[in-house]
Amino acid sequence: MRAVVIHEFGDPSGMAVVEVPTPATGPGQVLIATEAIGVGGVDAVIRRGTIRRTDFGPGLIPGSEVAGTVVAVGDGVDPSWKDRQVWAFTGMSGGYAEMAVAAVEDITALPSGLSSIEAATLGSAATVAHFALRHAHFSAGESVLVRGAGGSIGIAAVQIAARAGAGAVAVTTSSQSRGDRLRELGATNVLNRTGGPAEAAYDVIIDIAGGPDVPDFIDRLAANGRLVLVGAVAGMPTMDVGARLLQSFQQSRSLATFSLDSIPAAQRGQARSEQFEASARGDLRAVIHDVLPLDQAAEAHRRMDAGEVFGRIVLAGEHQPADQPDSRGSTTAGSWPGTRSEYGRSAHGRQR
Ligand SMILES: NC(=O)c1ccc[n+]([C@@H]2O[C@H](COP(=O)([O-])OP(=O)(O)OC[C@H]3O[C@@H](n4cnc5c(N)ncnc54)[C@H](OP(=O)(O)O)[C@@H]3O)[C@@H](O)[C@H]2O)c1
Repeated sequence: MRAVVIHEFGDPSGMAVVEVPTPATGPGQVLIATEAIGVGGVDAVIRRGTIRRTDFGPGLIPGSEVAGTVVAVGDGVDPSWKDRQVWAFTGMSGGYAEMAVAAVEDITALPSGLSSIEAATLGSAATVAHFALRHAHFSAGESVLVRGAGGSIGIAAVQIAARAGAGAVAVTTSSQSRGDRLRELGATNVLNRTGGPAEAAYDVIIDIAGGPDVPDFIDRLAANGRLVLVGAVAGMPTMDVGARLLQSFQQSRSLATFSLDSIPAAQRGQARSEQFEASARGDLRAVIHDVLPLDQAAEAHRRMDAGEVFGRIVLAGEHQPADQPDSRGSTTAGSWPGTRSEYGRSAHGRQR
């Protein structure tokens, strides 16, 4: 099968499409013919070398989420999964390929009315956003700031917080036009990446950006406010985060990290199913920046590194269903002025 591998960590040019053996389907696993492969911010973080692990070496197939059809099941897996359309978490690697394996507890059936491209946009991001807000003990009426809101996690967090009755939903973003798009999705205040005037105070900050500015955002928490660090798009925070928290001791602020890994698989699957249903009803929008073929994975990463992506780029797998259902609430970048989308042309060979 064809797969994208990272030959050299760092620049996107270190990725290439090669022929590799189709992965074996082990006990408790399913094999999926991929239709849509999500290009997540975490893939870029891994490719750049920000996250290092001993099992991340040359030859790594990046990608952690795919949607497609189950073509084989391993020992111990209910055979009725075969031929079903599913979303799957493949771990920290293995997604950018024509075939991917996933543990059965990490797959979610697609409801009717949700395309594989939408599923690959929402499956991980919306689940992270949902549980990050829960981890922050967010409740209706509270003000929320989403840092790094222009990616899939942030876009989902904005929509979920707005629908849950947030008092205000502020976002940080890098341009007026991106801010306008976020307003359409539920943001009430658009701030630049520095967060604007320091006197603004938020009950909850969902921080996907991370990096050296995290201490400055601790200063933007209200009394009893909670900052939940979800991502490291701008790198890991500096070590003075704890000092900044202590300097405001009398404000009773909290700083927490959140990883979806800490949520049991059954709970993740339940929340994801509910979000897929919400999206199929049109209550949660999948924002698809573009759909590119597998062999343009490096181009997808180049666009992410250049900060051009709003929402998610999806790689179209080789295996396309006869008919992808039209989507109700989804948004492609082509809907926005000054951006372009090939969704509806290249991916399925038909106009939406
Ligand atoms: N906690 C978990 O369980 C979990 C799960 C999956 C992924 N993650 C993490 O989440 C992150 C990826 O999320 P994503 O795909 O939604 O994000 P993303 O698309 O990679 O980036 C989100 C936004 O961050 C903004 N940004 C970029 N560089 C920035 C900088 N230097 N300072 C401030 N803002 C900056 C950009 O928006 P603007 O240009 O509009 O500012 C960008 O659109 C990764 O760090 C990944 O490791 C966490």
